[in-house]
Amino acid sequence: MLEVQEQVPLAPRTTIHAGGTAHYFIHIPNETQLPEVCAFAREKKVPLHPLGDGSNTLFADGSLELCIVKLANPFIRVWSVEQNLVYVESGAGTEWDAFVLWTIQRGYAGVECLSGIPGTVGAAPIQNIGAYGQELKQTLVQVRAYDTKLETYVSLPVKQCELDYRTSIFKDPAYKNRYILTSIVCRLSLRAPTPLTYTDIQNYFQTQNIQQPSLANIRDAVLTIRTQKLPDYHSIPNAGSFFKNPIIPKERADALQKQYPNIKLFPIDNTQTKLAAGWLIDQCGLKGSYIGPVGIYEKNALVLTNANMASCADIIQARDSILKQVQEKFGITLEMEPEIVG
Ligand code: EPU
Repeated sequence: MLEVQEQVPLAPRTTIHAGGTAHYFIHIPNETQLPEVCAFAREKKVPLHPLGDGSNTLFADGSLELCIVKLANPFIRVWSVEQNLVYVESGAGTEWDAFVLWTIQRGYAGVECLSGIPGTVGAAPIQNIGAYGQELKQTLVQVRAYDTKLETYVSLPVKQCELDYRTSIFKDPAYKNRYILTSIVCRLSLRAPTPLTYTDIQNYFQTQNIQQPSLANIRDAVLTIRTQKLPDYHSIPNAGSFFKNPIIPKERADALQKQYPNIKLFPIDNTQTKLAAGWLIDQCGLKGSYIGPVGIYEKNALVLTNANMASCADIIQARDSILKQVQEKFGITLEMEPEIVG
């Protein structure tokens, strides 16, 4: 028997603390109830939307005709060990950072740079979480999911999930909410961590005089740097980076660099370059300012803060104002990172 709550406020269930209410909200302790949840949503004729910790979600305002499902199945287990590789499975409802800590404590390398990222394991593949030179794509082997179309449990190899910079097949409108992720499997390494190239991390180890950082050292470095650049959503509601770093043709980036010699560029290959969106917004003079009730974080212009109980509409208005200013100054169209639901 499902426990269905009605007219549930969604703002407290997101880290940016905005949005209206869900008509139905179902909390399930394990995946076996997913077919029943799907049947319920079908009967009520409302879309089903899986929710993790809401750290990358912006719910629309008002009364939303949605059935939210929250799968609380935290588990982590070793699947198999092959020479220097260890395959670890984790339930979608596990806290992502608890998973990272678990791997570090056992000496399994591969996700240590992803320390401190809010959210659940089940949400991690959706936007292919990444930080400090690592992304989930490098270690993910497969996801397990309930396929709401075929009404069966499936295993999808990582290739089929099409993970790329902050995206995957799960964001594709053609597949949207078709799969409800139940667990992921990662391939981790028993070898020493690979040397890190990210400047902030290298500077940290230099200051600390650490020559060969352990996994625990890397976690400490990442957590320290994150604290300096990202507000804690418990005290200042936010959704992390609010915009993606735009990827543009190399010639265009080279031309911009001539005009703005300090622009922050990250070459991807011979044809494409990634720009730091935070720098672009910063250069528009927006860092530390407010657009209505919405703040542009004083230490990182890529983060929008919601300390003043802004609505979704307020946040969208701030987003549009930032998009316009960046577009006018640089001719670059930024893309929002969190998903708008409802
Ligand atoms: N910068 C500025 N001003 C700002 C913000 C950034 O000049 O206000 C400059 C920085 O000095 C740096 C460059 O922009 O030279 C890039 O900044 P940073 O290294 O902090 O990374 P980011 O582009 O702001 C990305 C990810 C983060 C991830 C970090 C570390 C995206 C959209 N964001 O941020 O991911 O933690 O790199 O790898 O790719 C997230 O997705 O929510 C997130 C926090």
